[in-house]
Amino acid sequence: MTESAIALPAEILPPGFLWGAATSAYQIEGSPLADGAGASIWHRFSHTPGRTLNGDTGDLACDHYRRSDEDVALMAALGLGAYRFSVAWARILPEGTGQLNQRGLDFYRGLVDRLLEQGIEPMLTLYHWDLPEALDARGGWTSDASPEWFADYARILFRALGDRVRFWITLNEPWVVTAGGYLFGDLAPGHRSLSEAPVVAHNLLRAHAAAFTTGRAEGIPNIGLAVNLEPQYPASRAPEDLAATARRDAFINRWFLDPLFLGTYPSELEGIFGAAWPDRTRSTLDSLCAPPDFIGVNYYSRSVVQQDPTDWPVKAGRVHREGRPHTAMGWEIYPQGLTDILVWLKERYGNPPLYITENGAAFEDPPAVDGRIHDRARVAYLRTHLLAAARALRRGVDLRGYFAWSLLDNFEWSYGYSKRFGLVQVDLATQRRLLKDSALAYRDLILRCRERP
Ligand code: FCB
Repeated sequence: MTESAIALPAEILPPGFLWGAATSAYQIEGSPLADGAGASIWHRFSHTPGRTLNGDTGDLACDHYRRSDEDVALMAALGLGAYRFSVAWARILPEGTGQLNQRGLDFYRGLVDRLLEQGIEPMLTLYHWDLPEALDARGGWTSDASPEWFADYARILFRALGDRVRFWITLNEPWVVTAGGYLFGDLAPGHRSLSEAPVVAHNLLRAHAAAFTTGRAEGIPNIGLAVNLEPQYPASRAPEDLAATARRDAFINRWFLDPLFLGTYPSELEGIFGAAWPDRTRSTLDSLCAPPDFIGVNYYSRSVVQQDPTDWPVKAGRVHREGRPHTAMGWEIYPQGLTDILVWLKERYGNPPLYITENGAAFEDPPAVDGRIHDRARVAYLRTHLLAAARALRRGVDLRGYFAWSLLDNFEWSYGYSKRFGLVQVDLATQRRLLKDSALAYRDLILRCRERP
């Protein structure tokens, strides 16, 4: 086995374990307005001066909208058993509600057909941050009507693709939608509002629940939610640090899962939001309390938390980062956190079925030498995180699959094209795809796992 191999004890994997890679619509597709699509909030946001690094937009991205056949062939060459992608709502419903755009639907139908022809299981995310601009104009996720908009959109896809897609995810990272979009303002639609955030979070939970119920009524068996999880460790045993750690844990990890699995919001949230925490959220939780069929775990890093009396906008501590190994995002590399968070999910929420729906790292990749990109740091990241996942499996976690983020170097939101997460390099000027060493190592791992007796 070479230095760049990812070794994993294949015998610990449950039968049918899915090996995949993940992407999202706005980050790779390009052609955002093609074939009758409506604009999304990300189209507007990225075209607003000062919102993304270098003014980068998703106008071309990986040109996947026009190259999806080539990209499916690439996935087949990697031996992927599954592919997680998202649907751009405004391609299906240019105004967000009402008139269907058949050409948009045809794109995803074609993609799903190509995947199935190659024996690749599609995992479809209904919402990965690209709300139709027309719905933002009607209040976006702050609107009481947003859950109904979402369920109507979801119904169209359940009906169109429910016979072919076996894995559905309603929302990608509702916490990031809430915090990035409406509280910190670094993601579209770019609001900074303490009072909007709890309303948005509640509407996202309602939207998830409405789509879940709609899916069930349409006979869809396997509907999950993907959440970003980041285990929190106190910087010291001082009571202030312990308290800040608990608040941050409630804020990031439990805000969406406690309501679904336990029927309550974490009590810390009221303290975090103070007067901005609306009373009404308590009274209407009952109808939301239904565990999804599976949880998608997006894991990148952990936090080490210190109390900070000046923290803003929410009292949820400060992250202590100095002196720790990190990726190009500045995120600490901490594989044990993946084991910890998976075991935590098992223990807190009654061992739900789990998929790691995102895990990966941005690094400054070395230049290609003889057509090879020796992205050793990414190979090491994958190796150590997969071993961490294996430790969780040994501890009885019901983990059923792993999706590397990301298949392709792509548009990393407000960082534009400056952060590269791909297993596959994409040359932005020529759109040429080149497998990095991490892609080759991942392919070999998948093959070895397939060949096990
Ligand atoms: C996650 C997002 C994904 C990507 C990675 C790096 O929060 O779901 O789209 O940006 O981070």
